[in-house]
Amino acid sequence: MKVRVPRIAPSEITPQEVYFSRRTLLAGALAAGASTLLRAAEAPPPQGAPLKYSNNPQYSVKEAPNKLEDIAGYNNFYEFGTDKDAPSRYAGSLRTRPWSVSVYGEAEVHGTFDLEDLLKGQALEERIYRFRCVEAWSLVVPWVGFPLSNLLARFKPTSRAKYVEFTTLYDPKQMPGQRVPVLTWPYVEGLRIDEAMHPLTLMVVGLYGRVLPNQDGAPLRLIVPWKYGFKSIKSIVKIGFTAQQPRTTWAGAASNEYGFYANVNPQVDHPRWSQASERRIGAPFLAARRPTLPFNGYANEVASLYQGMDLRRNF
Ligand code: MTE
Repeated sequence: MKVRVPRIAPSEITPQEVYFSRRTLLAGALAAGASTLLRAAEAPPPQGAPLKYSNNPQYSVKEAPNKLEDIAGYNNFYEFGTDKDAPSRYAGSLRTRPWSVSVYGEAEVHGTFDLEDLLKGQALEERIYRFRCVEAWSLVVPWVGFPLSNLLARFKPTSRAKYVEFTTLYDPKQMPGQRVPVLTWPYVEGLRIDEAMHPLTLMVVGLYGRVLPNQDGAPLRLIVPWKYGFKSIKSIVKIGFTAQQPRTTWAGAASNEYGFYANVNPQVDHPRWSQASERRIGAPFLAARRPTLPFNGYANEVASLYQGMDLRRNF
C-alpha cells in the first residue's frame, strides 16, 4: 500500500471505534484514580460567551444536531496533535484575542484588520449544516457565522482574483503540534472565487449559540458544507486573492489522495477507503452507518458550479 508523507494521514488517525473503546478504557482508568491529564480529556468542553444571532432555516438541515461534546470533543486540528481528543485537551493554549487577519493579493483593499473590525456590521446567523470529514465520519452542527461573501466584498476583489487562499496561524508556542512535521505548516486551504462567494460558504465564529471553542477553530474558521472537512480551515490569520490555484496543505502532502476540490462524492473513493457511506458520530451503533450524499446533500445548491467538469479527475 502506498503511504506517502505525511506519515500520519487522516486514515491513520484513531478510527472512531478505537476512540470510543479508548474512552471506555479512560473511564476505567479514571475510576482507578488516573492522572489529571486524563481527567481533562473527559471534562465537558468549556462554554464560550453567548452570541447574538438569528436562525437561518433556509440554509439549515432538518436533522438533529450532534451534542456539543461530540462537536467539541472529537476533532481534527493537527496543530494540537493528531488524536481526536488532542485538540480539546490542548487548544486552551491558543490565545484568540487580540486577533488580526491580513488581506493581500488581487483586491483593491489590502491590510491587516482586527477581528473586531472584520466582525463589525456582520449579522450573525445560526445554520445547522451537515459536516462530512474525508475520513468518512460525519456530524450535524449548529454553526454561528456569516456568509464569507459579505466579508470578501469589503476587500473589492479585482477581475484577476480567481481563487481565495486562507492560512492558519503559525506559532509553535501556542500550537505545539506545529513542532511535529506531520504536515507542512502553516495549514493552507483555498477555494475557487465562485465557491468562496457562494451563499452556503460560511465564516464561523460560534457553535451552539456561543463563541467557538478553540478546538473547533476559534476565533474564525471557514465552513464549506458540501466539501470534505479538510477544506474548512481553522483559526484563520490570512486571506489572499490569487490568480493561480493555491497550493493547499493536504493536496500538497498527498495529491493522489486529497484533491483541491474535495467535493463530497460517494462515487469517488479515497484510494485507501470507500466514500460511499459514513459514520454519524454519536448515533447508536446500528444506526450510525449511513449513505453519503453527493455534495453532502447540497447538490441542488452547488452542483451547477461544476457543470462540465469531470469530478473523478477534479476530486
Ligand atoms: N484546520 C487546521 N488549521 N488544521 C487542521 O488540522 N483539520 C481539518 C479541518 N480544518 C484542520 C483544519 C479537518 S481534516 C477536518 S475534518 C475539520 O477541520 C475538523 O473540524 P472539527 O474538528 O471542528 O470537526
